[in-house]
Amino acid sequence: MKDKLNQLREEFLSQLARVKNNEHLRELELKYLSRKGELSQLLGSLKDVSTDVRQEVGELANNIKQELQDKFFAAKQNLSGHTEKIAIDVTLPGDKFPEGHLNPITLVQNELEDLFTSLGFMILDGPELESDYYNFTALNIPSTHPARDMQDTFYVDYKNKDGEYDLLMRTQTSPVQIRAMQKYGAPFKALIPGRCFRNEATDARHEHTFYQVEGILVDKNINFANLKSFLEIVGQKLFGSNTKLRMRPKFFPFVEPGNNGEYTCFLCQGKGCRVCKNTGWLEIVGAGLIHPEVLRAGGLDPEIYSGLAFGFGLNRLAMLKYNINDVRLFNSGDLKFLEQF
Ligand code: FA5
Repeated sequence: MKDKLNQLREEFLSQLARVKNNEHLRELELKYLSRKGELSQLLGSLKDVSTDVRQEVGELANNIKQELQDKFFAAKQNLSGHTEKIAIDVTLPGDKFPEGHLNPITLVQNELEDLFTSLGFMILDGPELESDYYNFTALNIPSTHPARDMQDTFYVDYKNKDGEYDLLMRTQTSPVQIRAMQKYGAPFKALIPGRCFRNEATDARHEHTFYQVEGILVDKNINFANLKSFLEIVGQKLFGSNTKLRMRPKFFPFVEPGNNGEYTCFLCQGKGCRVCKNTGWLEIVGAGLIHPEVLRAGGLDPEIYSGLAFGFGLNRLAMLKYNINDVRLFNSGDLKFLEQF
């Protein structure tokens, strides 16, 4: 057995010394070192060696195996180093790696975060799996309120200790208003981007999963004039310095008075076009002064503090900005769509 091992070693090393290219090397590997190669077969017959010499032969076999593998590896390295040296042509163009793309929602979100951090806002996050309390009740939408119908969502099949299903996928970023008031007290100002969910019959303008961004500012003596001038600044930063704002009343249970902020269409400068449906105005932001009940739920005294809040749909903003005609494209994972940004 020892002779056979030594003979195999000699054969292997002498053939390795003559190897000229990778193909030869691969043949040698298959013949001697592969799972069914000669070395494995010899090692397999170790079990037939008498027990008094088995240890000695085993050691020799292991040493030879190690040596052959090391020398094979060194030869392989040598060969690839050698071929590389002669193959490099520095004038050839390099390999092109495909680049990733930021989703247009991320682009719009980044722009808003830059704008609001420059105005001193902090950026906050909140849970996507929310309680019924934070998503509705604390926002002045009690369980019997019809406003809940406008935001049907996905409930989680899990009962709380009172036997109620009270966990749901949040329908809006507004519940973070309450969480932020409870955590930071007043005064504070924050921007809250995040994913929201609604049980929608989806179409080109409605998705079950979409993004919003919420803004909240709480301090003493915040009034409607502050809200108006604030929304004007936001519009001018987002769409250009000639942008005008118009505010129309709209009911949101968590603000009083509530309104929809519309900006002059940035595509036609208010003249009327396909995007603004010839009105000259784009409906962008829901806003209002924070309802006293909401301040109370956040642990603040409405006799001392007041605040403003507003919310955008990020998908809709990105659709306007990049002329995207179907909201479902954002979640499609379609590279043909994403690669355009
Ligand atoms: C709200 O969700 C309020 N929380 C906004 C708010 C915040 C008002 C603070 C006042 C103060 P609304 O349901 O209108 O409001 O949704 C806001 C925006 O989210 C919409 O204008 C739209 O751009 C976007 N949005 C709502 N539902 C969908 C949907 N299914 N698909 C895509 N975008 C949606």
